[in-house]
Amino acid sequence: MNLQEIRRFLALYQMELNKSEQWLTNRLQQVEKEGVYIPSTEELTFGARVAWRNSNKCIGRLFWQSLHVEDARDILDEHAIFEKLVHHIRYATNEGKIRPTITVFAAGRVRVWNHQLIRYAGYETAEGIVGDPHSVSFTKICESLGWRGEGTAFDVLPLVIQVDERSPQWFAIPKEEVLEVAIRHPEQSQIEELALKWYAVPIISSMRFQMAGIDFQAAPFNGWYMGTEIGARNLADHDRYNMLPKIAEIFGLDTTRQASLWRDRALVELNIAVLHSFKEDGVSIVDHHTAAQQFKLFEEAEHKAGRDLTGNWTWLIPPLSPATTHIFHKPYYNVYNTPNYFYQKPPY
Ligand code: ARG
Repeated sequence: MNLQEIRRFLALYQMELNKSEQWLTNRLQQVEKEGVYIPSTEELTFGARVAWRNSNKCIGRLFWQSLHVEDARDILDEHAIFEKLVHHIRYATNEGKIRPTITVFAAGRVRVWNHQLIRYAGYETAEGIVGDPHSVSFTKICESLGWRGEGTAFDVLPLVIQVDERSPQWFAIPKEEVLEVAIRHPEQSQIEELALKWYAVPIISSMRFQMAGIDFQAAPFNGWYMGTEIGARNLADHDRYNMLPKIAEIFGLDTTRQASLWRDRALVELNIAVLHSFKEDGVSIVDHHTAAQQFKLFEEAEHKAGRDLTGNWTWLIPPLSPATTHIFHKPYYNVYNTPNYFYQKPPY
């Protein structure tokens, strides 16, 4: 245990939640006497929310106080962990009205091998990669554990769960638990023929949640999507689904000249389609202009609370029309305060 970090965390908790000085003295005495700091569920909840507030890459931080925290530190059976993860998916999905949620498992004992709880497989084939190239290495791991996908471009990967030094176990996510949105365009009906879709809820499961010097290596968390993550990256990047040439073709754009700006026009149409499809299906999503306005409100709220704003400009600017948002025109201090969410080495 790291007493200095525990002191810093509990002092922050005491101050922001208006606990008394006496409370802090008692709590610290108790920790020192017991020789171990086990956060209460209330402390854990506060820590997970502040970790979101401190996430410099995130444009969606205005809503940090609304994070729903599930304390799952007592679950150590692989199958029970799987069921808890399915519960997370169901609760967060909420039939489309997405709820920001984190489920915190026992520190130092549980690992979820997936990058996100819901993610599409990627297969190397003679004709090139089928599915999401981002998932190729993890897909191989799943196959080596005995999982077999259907071989489509949108096979949902299984959950891979490890407890202590036991070998990892995989579990298929029931299809009815995975909400997906078929991508169509409000004016161009042929976009539907590309049979594109994306899952509703991005639930990052590869990062470690750090608070009071404790590393919770398994603490999957989610918000809702910003449209550009799907329309300007996942479906558009050359090394992801690479759909811009096909979109350009449907819209009859001149792809023989770079200067026709066919890539840019195709990008805009694809992003219109993503936002339109999620909206029409009643699935939470935010466009990048609204998200930037919300981030402005977050900046103002932080200023009012007397806290220094931290941010990573390279991540905060949206990948589409960045200079149309205020974020582009402002410097941000990229200092990492804790609690926070950090990258960690994948277990495979
Ligand atoms: N960019 C990642 C993806 O496209 C998701 C990261 C988290 N995004 C979020 N809106 N909470 O899958």
